[in-house]
Amino acid sequence: MIKNISVSQIKEVVQQAYEQVKTNTDGKNADYIPFLSGVDKDLFGISICLLNGETITIGDTDYIFGIESVSKVHTAILILQQYGVQQILGMIGADATGLPFNSLLAILQENNHPSTPLVNAGAITACSMVQPVGNPEAKWAAIVKIITELAGSAPKLIEELYKSESETNFNNRSITWLLKNYNRIYDDPEMALDLYTRQCSLGVTATQLAITGATIANEGFNPVTKKQVFHEELAAPVTSLIATVGFYEHSGDWMYTSGIPAKTGVGGGIMGVMPGVMGISAFAPPIDESGNSVKAQLAIKHIMNNLGLNVFNGKQINIVK
Ligand code: DON
Repeated sequence: MIKNISVSQIKEVVQQAYEQVKTNTDGKNADYIPFLSGVDKDLFGISICLLNGETITIGDTDYIFGIESVSKVHTAILILQQYGVQQILGMIGADATGLPFNSLLAILQENNHPSTPLVNAGAITACSMVQPVGNPEAKWAAIVKIITELAGSAPKLIEELYKSESETNFNNRSITWLLKNYNRIYDDPEMALDLYTRQCSLGVTATQLAITGATIANEGFNPVTKKQVFHEELAAPVTSLIATVGFYEHSGDWMYTSGIPAKTGVGGGIMGVMPGVMGISAFAPPIDESGNSVKAQLAIKHIMNNLGLNVFNGKQINIVK
């Protein structure tokens, strides 16, 4: 049950994945957020961060793109730290919705819970919970701080994206007020929505997301900065949230075919967490009908399958020189 994988094997498979997937033209850039439709659709990068801090990168891994829904993971970690596992279960929930990320129906069906911090509803509730409640500047600082510490370097707000999202986020406004109706917004609703929109508009690189994935895979200890970012006991619950709903209504298909808990964003980024082994991220703007990057999915699946990595196969992985 012990499997040795060498760093050069990983590099080879990453190179293969990049070459095979690069020319894929399926999917299209998100256009319900106008800014995203203008991002170069041919950008593509893959980044892996091992738990010794070594990174393996190929392609556009330094390009700064909109983090979008991947940021839901970061805020989930923040409120897990501030409130604890049990309170998050009670105030938000930890269930898959089986519905799209922006579903109003999911809220109506579960009128007592926004289901999970990893869909829009739960993420807006999460922003309302970030402490100190009532203080938007300090809440924003806390969100940026956790994202920075997880990635080992600071994200950059993409002002044009923030403006573009703020001008068009009517569905999220409906979600916010519907949640308010069910007493699931724990601070000022407009403030919670604005924090959520702003965090989605933060720019990150694929390598920053790979390091974030590695930090979660490493029980909260950032392998690059060598700092403990969050309590080690929170790694399993947050990874379980990612596994259950990271791909929304396609989370089952994703787990079944890839073997890695991962979170997507409509900016084209995907962040995978392989506990005890690595963080992985791929980025390419064209997305499928569920909002998940087509090329990033293919690349991560190729790497997982070809290295024989799978969270469910019970193998103990040793990365050797
Ligand atoms: O709220 C939204 O619609 C966007 N800011 C984020 C959505 C998203 O990334 C969904 N994930 N694939």
